[in-house]
Amino acid sequence: MTFDIAVLPGDGIGPEVVGEAVRVLERVAELSGGEVDLRLEAFTVGAGAWRRSGEAIADDVYASCDAADAILMGAAGLPDARHPDGREAGTDVIFRLRFGLDLYAGIRPVRLYPGAPTPLRDAGVGIDYVIVRENVEGLYAGRHGGSRVEGEVAADTSIVTRAGTRRIAETAFGLAEARAEDGRGRPPLVTCVDKANVLASYAFFREVASEVAARHPEVAFEAVYVDAAALYLVQRPATFDVLVAENMFGDILSDLGAGTVGGLGLAPSADVGDAHGLFQAAHGSAPDIAGKGIANPLATILSAGMMLDWLGRRREDHAALRASVWIEDAVGAALRDGSGLTGDLGGTAGTVEAGDAVLRALDAVSAAA
Ligand code: NAI
Ligand code: MG
Repeated sequence: MTFDIAVLPGDGIGPEVVGEAVRVLERVAELSGGEVDLRLEAFTVGAGAWRRSGEAIADDVYASCDAADAILMGAAGLPDARHPDGREAGTDVIFRLRFGLDLYAGIRPVRLYPGAPTPLRDAGVGIDYVIVRENVEGLYAGRHGGSRVEGEVAADTSIVTRAGTRRIAETAFGLAEARAEDGRGRPPLVTCVDKANVLASYAFFREVASEVAARHPEVAFEAVYVDAAALYLVQRPATFDVLVAENMFGDILSDLGAGTVGGLGLAPSADVGDAHGLFQAAHGSAPDIAGKGIANPLATILSAGMMLDWLGRRREDHAALRASVWIEDAVGAALRDGSGLTGDLGGTAGTVEAGDAVLRALDAVSAAA
């Protein structure tokens, strides 16, 4: 099947890591014998584009993203490219796409691969869970609606709706069911993360999630306060399956989760809605290491794998699904034998060498399949 992919390399290390993900996608297309046909087209977005044109994402680029089958992104934003009110210009890209294309579900897998370093001494039991972050409501929905009074007071408003909570909870339960079908070997569980003991909006979030839970009796359900969840994700991460959380909580916990499985360089993500999907690493443009050839490309490569999985499930395209498994297995192999370990993971590979390691592993896993 043919897929049109809009590629947004962005700022900082974005172009470096996206370059490796594109090489991986081109290789799986080749290895599929033409069954997976990817038409990749790159567009300029981010802080660099904003400095040149005043817009971090131009209207025609947005329209191309809207028209594409999926979007693959590096990272957008640089700390010194800011609007007069202090907000970063580059983050306009992800917010415009998330809100404009209604990418309401942030899917963030947290998985410990053999060979990747973890600061948790007892993590040998296996960390493998997914954080489902509500992406378009919650505290960040007030991004343009906050107020400042006379340089003395600032306020933001959190927005939680029944419809928004219901669909993100449905996404979480659907994912738990799909993971169980994929033979995970553990009963499916959805954990609602909130602060229902303090704020009415979170009590409402839990209430609506519980209603959705009642429609999925085959999936276990629990609710945990966010502060306790931060503790448990460190103490007993292996007990989680799918977590669902309001926007800001999901944002924070997914970085915590990434920290337990090797860091941001191994944290992929998908921002998906009913009609569109955007795939990018959870990390930013890492200006401190940009241009040095040392950025870890694996999170972006894994995100490209999630893109093929999402496309494959939507279109019932088995070749795309198979290619997505190849990518995940190849990253696993490159970590296991150490050839894909970049500096942030305690290895010596540069960005391109890590990409090379994945390409070599791809040849092996696809031949073995
Ligand atoms: P960051 O994720 O870019 O960097 C945090 C730390 O992790 C840095 O020390 C960096 O060197 C390291 N790091 C990140 N990715 C890495 C990789 N692939 N390999 C090795 N090390 C890696 O977060 P930071 O510094 O807060 O943000 C930098 C810029 O990125 C900001 O302008 C921010 O707004 C933007 N940003 C954009 C995002 C997006 O496009 N979705 C998401 C997060 C931040
Ligand atoms: Mg974040």
